[in-house]
Amino acid sequence: MKNLLVTGGCGFIGSNFIRHLFYETGFSGRLINVDKLTYAGNLENLSALAAAYPDRYVFVPADICDADAMAEVFDTYAVDTVCHFAAESHVDRSIVEPDAFIRTNIIGTHRLLECARARIDRIELFHHVSTDEVYGSLGAEGYFSETTAFDPSSPYAASKAASDHLVSACHRTYGLPITISNCSNNYGAYQFPEKLIPLVILNALAGKPLPVYGEGKNVRDWLYVTDHCRAIWQIMTSGKRGRTYNIGGHAEKTNIDVVTLICDLLDAMLPPPEGINSRRELITFVTDRPGHDLRYAIDFSRITKELCWEPTESFETGLKKTIEWYLDNTGWVERIRSGEYLKWIGQNYDYRLAGN
Ligand code: NAD
Ligand code: TYD
Repeated sequence: MKNLLVTGGCGFIGSNFIRHLFYETGFSGRLINVDKLTYAGNLENLSALAAAYPDRYVFVPADICDADAMAEVFDTYAVDTVCHFAAESHVDRSIVEPDAFIRTNIIGTHRLLECARARIDRIELFHHVSTDEVYGSLGAEGYFSETTAFDPSSPYAASKAASDHLVSACHRTYGLPITISNCSNNYGAYQFPEKLIPLVILNALAGKPLPVYGEGKNVRDWLYVTDHCRAIWQIMTSGKRGRTYNIGGHAEKTNIDVVTLICDLLDAMLPPPEGINSRRELITFVTDRPGHDLRYAIDFSRITKELCWEPTESFETGLKKTIEWYLDNTGWVERIRSGEYLKWIGQNYDYRLAGN
């Protein structure tokens, strides 16, 4: 892995993954981060790393759907390995405006696969990052395994399922060396505050309502983002080519339990906002999400048995670290919310200065 292309590296998981590679593993190659910088992409997430590794970290602002731009990236940087995160990632947005999901998640993945296929002799691995949402919904019992049939409910999940199939098909048809990971809900530092956990942390700090869909009984399995990054790297370095690995956090919770725990942890750290005795008073049940999957739970025994990976963070310790990160990074939050970080890009970062 001399020249590793990471797509979507300015987003939540991608930026955690890039930091993980440089600071926690023996990765010694060059990393090329291709990101279109949608609302969810933020250069600030990697500014310290970019400054620390000017020779080994390259940022290319580009759209994965742009075939010419992607071909240029593969050739200019002699890409031999791909780790593909770039996606539209929020279920609620996919319900309102599915077009961008079809475009980036399906067409974009196809464009990257075509680039890799055209250079198959030098491609060591194409790793595709996906979600457990491709499997649809569980009832009260059972777990998703790697052989569970796909049954996606939302446009987001359907677009990810399509991309997973395209990646598998490239392996079967053309022999492209691929791996795929399907993981549960991530949480941790740098998550865009549209997803449940950061949204609730920030609203609870500000004394705003905490929207809980339906009765709050839907269950998600929560995976701390650095555990996820470790799993991806383990798959990339030791996973069997052509194989899918499920990644879970061993932390199934109802949404109402998650929201209540955030309220209680915050109350123990800081006095409640004026006018209330406990942040639990901010919980507001709202209209349910259409097509809302009831329960996700992951059987991740394959990655444990084959690659000796297990999650190390409990939900309680991971959540506490996450809350502390948001408390310590109010500037990041303000810039995200005000659109200030778009100005920050112009002032502090010149793409043309990125090493190559
Ligand atoms: P995110 O929304 O935080 O980041 C996505 C990144 O992709 C952003 O930096 C964005 O600018 C970039 N991007 C979007 N469209 C692009 C395009 N056309 N070209 C180039 N870049 C583009 O997402 P995330 O939460 O970090 O998720 C990363 C990956 O992990 C996604 O593939 C997602 O489906 C998957 N995943 C996420 C979760 C989760 O809980 N967040 C769980 C399972 C799987
Ligand atoms: P979310 O973070 O959007 O992730 P996903 O839809 O990919 O699972 O939502 C996690 C769960 O929380 C999901 O069951 C929907 C629910 N939810 C709420 O109850 N209120 C909210 O404001 C949000 C964003 C999500």
